[in-house]
Amino acid sequence: MAVQINPSILSADFARLAEEAKAVEGADWLHVDVMDNHFVPNLTLGVPIVESLSRATDIPLDLHLMIENPDRWAPQYVEAGAGSVTFHAEAAAAPVRLAREIRAKGARAAMALKPATPIEQYEDILPELDMVLIMTVEPGFGGQAFLDIMLPKIRRTREMIAKHGLELWLQVDGGVSASTIERVAEAGADVFVAGSAVYGAPDPAAAVRSLREQAGAAIAAAPWACDHGAKA
Ligand code: DX5
Ligand code: ZN
Repeated sequence: MAVQINPSILSADFARLAEEAKAVEGADWLHVDVMDNHFVPNLTLGVPIVESLSRATDIPLDLHLMIENPDRWAPQYVEAGAGSVTFHAEAAAAPVRLAREIRAKGARAAMALKPATPIEQYEDILPELDMVLIMTVEPGFGGQAFLDIMLPKIRRTREMIAKHGLELWLQVDGGVSASTIERVAEAGADVFVAGSAVYGAPDPAAAVRSLREQAGAAIAAAPWACDHGAKA
């Protein structure tokens, strides 16, 4: 699968979201972080802003729900216009039921894991998902340093996807930048969220293009991508 770069609007100017979406033209998805001040110690935005943003941009919205009780709220984000909805494994009461509900409403369903949550316990439910998000920082804030200790989990997740022959995207979020994207791609990620590395750059659209090139080259040279090609 081709590399996807998803700028996170957490690092954008919240008073100018429509313009900030235009500033990353060419991005695959716009990553929207919903925080409720309970699941994480920060508060961002909710359904009404997602509704407005989805009308204001053609870039599909990739919702990352860092909230308690996603079982109750996630379906509303599909109705608000999200093309993909990610809930946290640590917060969902019934992840299989929730993923099915998100898919039934017409969006892609994804599940996120905080750094200390292992992937192994979720191996059997991966076919219910369209994407897994491996957090490479503790969720809650942009601009944190990338956690290299997550690289083995990304590798194990990629192996699991290959073992079961799944069409599952592997997203990483947190500290992804020009200096870290190559090693995350080499480890097995194919969807990259970047907040400060995109919106902190003088030309955000150019930053997206350059991250895409770096990740593409790293994946082309990675053992996991070669294996995948050999099997195809
Ligand atoms: C953090 C959010 C991220 C955040 C990433 O909890 O989930 O999406 O915007 O920001 P950077 O790319 O600056 O680490
Ligand atoms: Zn996020």
